[in-house]
Order: sequence, then C-alpha cells, then structure tokens
Amino acid sequence: MLTVAVLISGTGSNLRALLDAAAAADFPARVVVVGADRDADGLAHAEEFGIPSFTVPFTHYATREEWGRELGAQLEVWQPDLVVLSGLMRLLPTELVERWAPQLINTHPAYLPEFPGAHGVRDALAAGVTETGASVIVVDGGVDTGPILAQERVPVLPGDTEHTLHERIKPVERRLLIETVRQIAAGELDLAATASAPS
Ligand code: GAR
Repeated sequence: MLTVAVLISGTGSNLRALLDAAAAADFPARVVVVGADRDADGLAHAEEFGIPSFTVPFTHYATREEWGRELGAQLEVWQPDLVVLSGLMRLLPTELVERWAPQLINTHPAYLPEFPGAHGVRDALAAGVTETGASVIVVDGGVDTGPILAQERVPVLPGDTEHTLHERIKPVERRLLIETVRQIAAGELDLAATASAPS
C-alpha cells in the first residue's frame, strides 16, 4: 500500500476527491497525513476522514527555508512514499524538493508548459486561448517545469470567468491526479525513471 501525504492551501477539492477514491478497498494508496501552509478550509476533509493533519503557517517564518525545514520535519514524522502538492500555493525550498523528488508531484490547472505559476487559469484567459488544460507533474527545482505525468485539454468557452474555467478544469485535474496516484501505487508508473528520462 502506497502511503501519501497531501499538501494544500485552499478548499482542497482535489484532496477530497483523492480521499474518496482512496476509501475504496481496492485502491492501492492511502492518504496518511494532510499538511497546509495556512488555516486552509480543506483541512476539514482530513478531519472528516479521520486523517491526521498539520499546519505550518508560511507567515510565521522569517524565510522560505525556515518554513520549509519545519514542513520537512512534519513530513519526516509520517515517512510517506509520495508527497502530493494539491493546490499548495507556495514554492518549496530547494532542500525540500531535493529530499522528496521524484516522489513529489503537483497538480496544475493548465496544459504545461503553457501557463505555469500561481495564476494558470487567469493567464490562459488573459492570453485569449480557446483551449487550456490540466496537468500532473513531478516537482523539480523550477516553477512547474518538471516531467509531465498526465495532462488533458479543457476548452475555454465564450464568457468564461476565471471561476467558471477553473471549475471546468478541476474535475479533469481530479481524474488525472487519482489515476496518476493509482498508477504509481500499482507500480505502473516509475517516477524515478520518468524524472531521469531525457526530455
Ligand atoms: C487546483 O486547481 C490546483 O491545480 C491549483 O490550485 C487548485 C486547488 O484547488 N494549484 C495551482 O495553481 C498551483 N500552481 P483545491 O484546493 O480545490 O483542490
């Protein structure tokens, strides 16, 4: 059974979908802990499922590195096989990425390498594209630059706002995330091989 830590900043709808999927007896992964960088609404999902959680508030630390060291110490307690960034809206310090990569994946609401960064949905709308998407990647030292594990196109419709477009992307993200975690857990996807493959 693959053990998973999930890190969030917001409502945790993707976390919720993963918790629902992992509750099935035949799903080969279990979420063992949920962490957040703030008092995130999504922590309520962990509580509902009886899963431990921790918060390491980014704003309580003088530097990203100090925050990352405490976040890392919390992860070490649980020793997860995989760490999932599911809407964690902070860049991890290099030290933490090096400790966990390639067993460290991220969901992103755009078709990478298009529209990386904190505003993937807003940036796609501003660019006037007719299609954007959702991606699941391995985290590396850059901003959404790691190897792509899964992605799918999502249409941008006339009249879309950032909210309506994001709400169309999220169900696709959820499906991709759950399937990616399942593949990793089932041994069908080898993150070490993916991360070291030439691009
Ligand atoms: C998701 O769309 C996720 O891809 C995005 O935040 C949302 C979190 O939603 N992450 C990023 O944009 C990271 N660059 P949720 O809290 O409802 O799961």
